[in-house]
Amino acid sequence: MSRLRGKVAIVTGGNAGIGEAVAKAFAREGASVVITGRRQGELNRVVSDIVKEQGQVLAVAGSVTDEAHVQETVRQTLQQFGRLDILVNNAGIGEFGKRLHETDDATWAQILDVNLNGVFRMTRAALPQMLKQGAGAIVNISSIASLMGLPSLPAYAASKGALDSLTSALAVDYAKDGIRCNVVNPGLIDTPMAAPLMSNPEQLEPILSCYPIRRVGKPEEVAHMVLYLASDEAAWVTGGTFPIDGGITIS
Ligand SMILES: NC(=O)c1ccc[n+]([C@@H]2O[C@H](COP(=O)([O-])OP(=O)(O)OC[C@H]3O[C@@H](n4cnc5c(N)ncnc54)[C@H](OP(=O)(O)O)[C@@H]3O)[C@@H](O)[C@H]2O)c1
Repeated sequence: MSRLRGKVAIVTGGNAGIGEAVAKAFAREGASVVITGRRQGELNRVVSDIVKEQGQVLAVAGSVTDEAHVQETVRQTLQQFGRLDILVNNAGIGEFGKRLHETDDATWAQILDVNLNGVFRMTRAALPQMLKQGAGAIVNISSIASLMGLPSLPAYAASKGALDSLTSALAVDYAKDGIRCNVVNPGLIDTPMAAPLMSNPEQLEPILSCYPIRRVGKPEEVAHMVLYLASDEAAWVTGGTFPIDGGITIS
């Protein structure tokens, strides 16, 4: 398979969960993939998996909250692979189970700094090379939390709502430069982020009963959608919002 042959992609948070599945799917489709994340051990694990399958991969450890790391990621990408075609802004965190009056300043600031400001920083660093190439595809990983009211995740919902709006603004600003920007909104996906819920049937069952397709999603299922949006198959698709959610947002 070679839907991304010759392309170079950065996937933030590519060392776990959805980002790992995206990085592996991209590498299988012929892309050279740069993965980021704070945990070096998890980066090494994913690099080793991709190399075993003859994929091209580079890991750059660090946080999307750190401008120097973000700049270094793009610098190393260009040094190693010579171009940048795709950016997947996937790195994200959440705090679940508290309402707004129980949310402290530090939690609010941290969630916004990773989920929204991190996307701002990484996208700002990637755009000059995409502008130079006259092409690019950006895929932001949001959540159904931006599309429907979900309980007890106010900072997370606000960060993802802003991310959806940012995606529309980018799509309009850069369409003339050949750069597309779309957002994917997953429902509950079986990743480390969802692990506390997955291991608690009493909490999980009532949530699953709201899903027309009564199961959690798989990271690989999200990766299929991201792969399409990142590829030239989606050449006429920009500014789109793509729920992948077992039908919950229409039920
Ligand atoms: N799982 C779900 O149910 C679900 C549903 C909707 C949307 N999402 C979204 O999907 C994305 C991926 O989530 P996931 O479920 O795969 O979560 P996950 O398993 O917890 O993985 C999160 C990834 O983000 C990285 N990360 C976290 N903070 C970072 C930072 N400051 N800088 C760089 N990387 C950072 C983590 O690596 P390090 O810890 O090593 O930094 C990890 O690779 C997130 O944006 C999340 O909001 C998830």
